[in-house]
Amino acid sequence: SNQNPFNGKFPQDVTKKPGENAIFIVYGLKESSETLDKVKDVCANFSALIRSMRNRYPDMKFSCTMGFGADAWKRLFPEQGTPKELETFKEIKGSKFIAVSTPGDILFHIRCTKMGLCHEFASIIDEKLRGVVYSIDETHGFRYRDGRAIIGFVDGTENPGVDANPYHFGVISDDAPEFVGGSYVFVQKYIHDMVAWNALPVEEQEKVIGRHKYDDVELSDEEKPKNAHNAVTNIGDDLKIIRDNMPWANTSKGEYGTYFIAYASTFTTTRQMLENMFIGNPVGNTDHLLDFSTPLTGTLFFVPSYDLLNKLGD
Ligand code: HEM
Repeated sequence: SNQNPFNGKFPQDVTKKPGENAIFIVYGLKESSETLDKVKDVCANFSALIRSMRNRYPDMKFSCTMGFGADAWKRLFPEQGTPKELETFKEIKGSKFIAVSTPGDILFHIRCTKMGLCHEFASIIDEKLRGVVYSIDETHGFRYRDGRAIIGFVDGTENPGVDANPYHFGVISDDAPEFVGGSYVFVQKYIHDMVAWNALPVEEQEKVIGRHKYDDVELSDEEKPKNAHNAVTNIGDDLKIIRDNMPWANTSKGEYGTYFIAYASTFTTTRQMLENMFIGNPVGNTDHLLDFSTPLTGTLFFVPSYDLLNKLGD
């Protein structure tokens, strides 16, 4: 994306595919006299660190994005003002399901063909921030078969990219000039009830997702239930987000999950999908996928353009 300026700004890699491997790190910030300097140092050097990885490993599809939670943003950069929709995620409580809100100051979303290179970059960042951050969550995601969620269905199909412009849906254009080129990224670490899921016949699973399992073909309108995941989250061709979900697993502990991550030009779109899932529209028509999936986290971050990131580092 740094070869594709958007309205004159260089966005971070918010329109890329999920990739083969990913590390998702959510840090909390410590109150220390060094905090601001160390974070600024990472901001100032971030594009150079990525450039180095890409120069050294040109065919590895390396990328990393960096985002800030609302509290951290206001604390670190009070003079910057705040992007329109950057706020602490307010939990969504339906009668049956809750989209929890959990803390997070800085997010790193590292993607690469080789996990070893994700690790290399994570360790560089971690060293630069040592002493001023603590780990809130780190999840390692992997591409599963032909891009499937761990529940066995292809994930990401309806992302904009073929007949719709991912920059339009993933990159902020309607805000103060310094925030244009940024993005809102929302993460939720889900855990699945795989025992219950695997007990469902494939035809029933297909009604939960709204697509056929084997070949990923969408169910017809007659076949698709109102509470299918893709019925609930499809809020129109003008309202899309860029999803880069990855499976994660602790197989020997029986833990199977999806790390949901979505970039959007406006968080309102992501939030509307979440409300449809957790509350239902009409109320009560909740997403059937939630009967098998529980979010353990839920955090919103702002991903500045490279232009703004460089400025923050000054
Ligand atoms: C579609 C999986 C959570 C938004 C899909 C599809 C799968 C899937 C398999 C069908 C293929 C595709 O078009 O990508 C999951 C899993 C989740 C999850 C395993 C975690 C439990 C979410 C959340 C949102 C969301 C939290 C929104 C906030 C969407 C959208 C579509 C979709 C917009 C495309 C709908 C359409 O056909 O227009 N998801 N998803 N998903 N999902 Fe999810």
